[in-house]
Amino acid sequence: VKLALIGARRVRQGLGPFVARFLAEEGARVTAFLGTSADSVEAGGRELRQQAGIDAVGYTDLERMLAGEDLDALVILSPAETHGRYLRAALEAGLHVLCEKPLLFGGEHTADQVAELASAFRTRGLLLAENCQWPHVLPAFRALHGDPGPIQDFAMGLTPDSAGARMIADALPHPLSVAQALLPSTDARLEDLRFSNRDPQAQHLTIGARYATPDGGFRFEVQLIRGASLPREASLTINGRVARRRVRLEDYALFLVDGSREVGLNDPLRALLRQFLANLSATLAGAAPPDPFPITQRAAMLEHVLGEFQAPPQR
Ligand SMILES: NC(=O)c1ccc[n+]([C@@H]2O[C@H](COP(=O)([O-])OP(=O)(O)OC[C@H]3O[C@@H](n4cnc5c(N)ncnc54)[C@H](OP(=O)(O)O)[C@@H]3O)[C@@H](O)[C@H]2O)c1
Repeated sequence: VKLALIGARRVRQGLGPFVARFLAEEGARVTAFLGTSADSVEAGGRELRQQAGIDAVGYTDLERMLAGEDLDALVILSPAETHGRYLRAALEAGLHVLCEKPLLFGGEHTADQVAELASAFRTRGLLLAENCQWPHVLPAFRALHGDPGPIQDFAMGLTPDSAGARMIADALPHPLSVAQALLPSTDARLEDLRFSNRDPQAQHLTIGARYATPDGGFRFEVQLIRGASLPREASLTINGRVARRRVRLEDYALFLVDGSREVGLNDPLRALLRQFLANLSATLAGAAPPDPFPITQRAAMLEHVLGEFQAPPQR
């Protein structure tokens, strides 16, 4: 399959070089990428060659790239505010998409826009995937702790390099995607939302809620602490069993750790990209793409949380 990246570099938190390397290692051809200036395209081309062994043609003009390349899919890795334009362009050009989380950010009625986009992709038989890789950590969690049984409570700790509402938008898609994987339901909702503070520039924030479905649900908690240093701290707790992510710096191998016990963790980003490529191949061979409903549901939950976080205090 032939892919183009929108945003090949890591300027702030972007995953371009890692995604490009994994895609190439999983057998996809990254033939082109879009950057924002002639200089950044030159730098992007260099980084792709050095870090991913990829020789891709760089463009600064989307229309020229789409006209000049014979593509199957776009992989959108640019800042969240820019995703909408590229999602719509992909739809118009009949291209499948993997897009970074959050699918859309900023502006009004974001969840409705996500629902419209997801429905348009589905109607046209196009694959739409969002880069929420944390559900792919669950097999290692089970290897560390065994099957947790019925879920009573689920918590995640993350350290995005942002503050306030932006921090929520950056981080929340991950725990939401894990909650959806633990207890999928078309009727799932977040109820009883609580925030440790509502400071618009909050550098740390705990969000509590109940992830509720008609058949049950569980306590849901997300602890966010602004973090600029790498590797980022991250942890997952299910029914009180903790699993902290450890990155071994010599070779960037990943582990899940609880006290003195640890298990190897296959990179969940690679696992997600492998799944995306498998779904893409199946879709190109004529199968219907997976239902993008979980993406729509996550966007609705994110909008709900952001709305409550930013709501004026009750008198
Ligand atoms: N899934 C995860 O775990 C994870 C982790 C980190 C970040 N992310 C997500 O990755 C996305 C990007 O992160 P970021 O905002 O920090 O990106 P960034 O590192 O600031 O930039 C990444 C790339 O986006 C390109 N870019 C910037 N504006 C663009 C535009 N208008 N059109 C096309 N390309 C543009 C940049 O181009 P140039 O090369 O021209 O500068 C750069 O190559 C966000 O949605 C973020 O949430 C996900």
